Amino acid sequence: MQEFATKEITTDVLIIGGGMAATGSAVEAAYWGKQNGQKVTVVDKAAFDRSGAVAMGLSAINQYTGENSPIDYLSYVQQDLMGLCRQDLVMDIARHVSGSVHMFEGFGLPIWKDAEGNYVHEGRWQLMINGESYKLILAEAAKNAIATLGDDGEIIERVFVTELLMDKNDKNRVAGAVGIDIREPYDFYVFKCKVAIVACGGAVHVFRPRSTGEGLGRAWYPPWQSGSTSALMQKAGAEMTSQEVIFIPARFKDGYGPVGAWFLLFKAAATTASGVNYMEEGFKEGGELHNWLPYGAVKPIPTCLRNHLMMKAIYEKGDGPILMQTADAIERIASEAPDEKAKKKKMKELEAEAWEDFLDMTISQAILWASKNVYPEKQPSEIAPSEPYFIGSHSGASGAWCSGPEDLQNDASKSEYFWGYNRMSTVTGMFSAGDGVGLSSHKFSSGSFTEGRIAAKAAIKFCVENADMPEVDMDKVSYIKEKTYAPMKLYEDNKGYSVVDEKKGYTYSEEINPNYIDPKMFMFRIQKIMDEYAAGWGSQYTCSAITLNIALDLLKYCREDLDKVAARDIHELMRYWENVHRLLTAEAHVRHKLFREETRWPGYYYRADFPKLEEDAWGKVFVNSKWDDETGEWEMIKRDNIDIIKLGEVVGQ
Ligand code: FAD
Ligand code: ADX
Repeated sequence: MQEFATKEITTDVLIIGGGMAATGSAVEAAYWGKQNGQKVTVVDKAAFDRSGAVAMGLSAINQYTGENSPIDYLSYVQQDLMGLCRQDLVMDIARHVSGSVHMFEGFGLPIWKDAEGNYVHEGRWQLMINGESYKLILAEAAKNAIATLGDDGEIIERVFVTELLMDKNDKNRVAGAVGIDIREPYDFYVFKCKVAIVACGGAVHVFRPRSTGEGLGRAWYPPWQSGSTSALMQKAGAEMTSQEVIFIPARFKDGYGPVGAWFLLFKAAATTASGVNYMEEGFKEGGELHNWLPYGAVKPIPTCLRNHLMMKAIYEKGDGPILMQTADAIERIASEAPDEKAKKKKMKELEAEAWEDFLDMTISQAILWASKNVYPEKQPSEIAPSEPYFIGSHSGASGAWCSGPEDLQNDASKSEYFWGYNRMSTVTGMFSAGDGVGLSSHKFSSGSFTEGRIAAKAAIKFCVENADMPEVDMDKVSYIKEKTYAPMKLYEDNKGYSVVDEKKGYTYSEEINPNYIDPKMFMFRIQKIMDEYAAGWGSQYTCSAITLNIALDLLKYCREDLDKVAARDIHELMRYWENVHRLLTAEAHVRHKLFREETRWPGYYYRADFPKLEEDAWGKVFVNSKWDDETGEWEMIKRDNIDIIKLGEVVGQ
C-alpha cells in the first residue's frame, strides 16, 4: 500500500473548519494573536474561498438586529424554538452581530440599499445582499488577517480532520488533531495545539435525502458537512446538547431553494393543492395551533409549527402538494404601481429578483426552474418538507454544551452556564462556534461569524493564561495513523474482480466483494435506518421508543461493521471518515430523541408514544449527552433551562 508521510504542525490556536464561524475566528484570533504572540492555524477540508454552507453564496444576511434590542431577538428565538434556548448564548450574539455585518460591508459585501441609503430588509431581522461572492469576500478578509501574523499564521486547505488528540497527562484536555491530506503529496497531518476551535459545520446525509438517482447528493445544506463538529467533540468526551433538535427546512421541491425571500420579502402565501392558506387556518380561533400553546399563539409562527401545519395538510388531509403562490405575490406587489407602464417595469424587476434570489444562493433551484419551464410570475411552485439536518446555527439547536459569557449570567446560571472561557466546551481548551454550539439558534451566517469571533477572543485568552503546551502521545498517534488508513489496506488486500478468474476476485464489480463494503453503501445503511426508524421523511417524521430502539440496535451493527469498510483511494478514505462522523452523530441523535419523552417540535419530529408537549416534565430542561470513547457507554443528562432575562413580546416578522 502507498506510504503516507507524517507532517507535524505546532500552533497555539487551531481553527478546524473554514466556514462562516471559522472565518470569524480567523479574523479575531489574528487580531488578538498578534498582540499576544500567539500562532494561529486554520485547517479546512475544502478550498477556503468556497467552502461550507455559503459556498454557492447567499441572498440575505439572516441575523441583523439593527435598531431592535438584543432582548427582542432573544424573545423571537426562544419562542421559535418552543421555549428552549440558552439565553446567555443567544443574547451574546445578538448584541454583537450588527457590528459584524458592518464589518462585512467594509470587506466589500454589497448590501442592498433603498433610495435613502438604508439597508433593504427582507424581514425584521434579515437584510438583502448581492451575496454570490459572500464566502469569497469573507475568506479574503480572513486570509488578510492571518497574513498579518507572518510566520505565525497559516491556512491549510484540503485536509480533512479525522479526530482530535488529547493531552497525554489530562484526558479532558485537547492537545491537537490529525487529518488526511486529500491532495498531493497526501501527507498525514499531526497538529499540536494549545486550543482547538472546532467549527466544521452541521451534518447532512445522516438521514435519507429525498433526492435520488441523478439528483443524489443534492441537499439543502452542503453534502460535505458530515457531522465532523459533533463527532469530533463527542468523541473527545465533550458534553453535547439538544442533539434531538434537528431542522426540517421547507424548501422549493427538488432544488431545495430557500423560502425566506418569498415569505418575507415578497409576502407570498403558501397554500395547499386545493388553495387553502393552511397557516392562516391554523392560526385562527380553534385552529390547529391552539393545540400547541403557548407557542402556537405567537407570531411569527415558530418554524416547526409552520412545518407541522404543512405536514398535516399533506399527510392527514391528502391536500398536497403545497404550493408557493409566487405569481400572486408578484402580481400583488406590481399592482401597487401607479400606471400600466410602471407596473410592467415593476414586474420585470420582481421577476429578476425572484431569479436572483436563487442565483445568489441555490443555483440548482434556478437551473431546475429553467429546465422545467417555470415562470414564477405566471405559476406557483411546489414546496415540500425535506429530510432532517443537524444545524445549530439555523432553526435547529444541536451542538456542544458551551460556557457562555460571564457578564450575562445571574446567580442561578453562573455556576451552570459559565466555566471560565466563553464558548469553551466541557473539554479544556476545546471551543466551538456556528453549527457546533448548541442552543444558540438562529445565528445563521452573520451570527456564526460573530460567534467565531467570540470563541477566538476567549481562545487567545486561554492560551495566554495557560501558556504550557499539552503533550501529544506520539505512540498513540502512530496507532491512530495505522487505523486512519486501514480502509485502504483492506481494499488492497482484497481488491480484484473478474467473472472468469476466481483468483482475481469474486464478482464483476469492484463495489461488490464479500470482504468489504464501500463507503457509499455504508452511508446508505445509516440513512435507511435513520429514515425508517428515527423519523425521517420516509416515516412521515414519526418515531416511538420501539422504533428508536430498533434504530439503536441497527446502528450498533453498523459500528461493528466499520472495520469492513474499504477505500479505493484517498477520496474514498475521506468518505469513510465522513461516515464515521455521521454514525456517531446518528447514534447521539437517536439517544436524545429516545430520552425526551414528548413531542416538543411537531413539524421536526413526532414521538407517536408521547404525541404532546409535556411542559411540566420537559418544558424547562435541555437534554445533554456524553460518550465514553473507550467503553462506548452513553450518559444522558438533564440540564436546567434557566431564565436569565425577562423576555419581551414579539410582534412582526
Ligand atoms: P459552514 O459555513 O458550513 O462551514 C463549515 C466548514 O467546515 C467548511 O469550511 C468545511 O469545509 C469545513 N469542514 C467540514 N468538515 C471538516 C473536517 N472534518 N475537517 C476540516 N474542515 C471541515 N444564512 C444567512 O445568514 N442568510 C441566508 O440567506 C442563508 N441561506 C442559506 C442557504 C443555504 C442553501 C444554506 C445551506 C445555508 C444558508 N444560511 C443562510 C445559513 C448559513 O450558511 C450557516 O448558518 C453558516 O454557514 C454556518 O456556519 P458554520 O461555520 O458553522 O458552517
Ligand atoms: S435560508 O437560510 O435557507 O435562507 P429560509 O429561507 O428558510 O433559510 O429563511 C430565511 C429567514 O427567513 C430565516 O430567518 C427564517 O427564520 C425566516 N423565515 C422563513 N420563512 C418564514 C416565515 N414564513 N415567517 C417568518 N420567518 C420566516
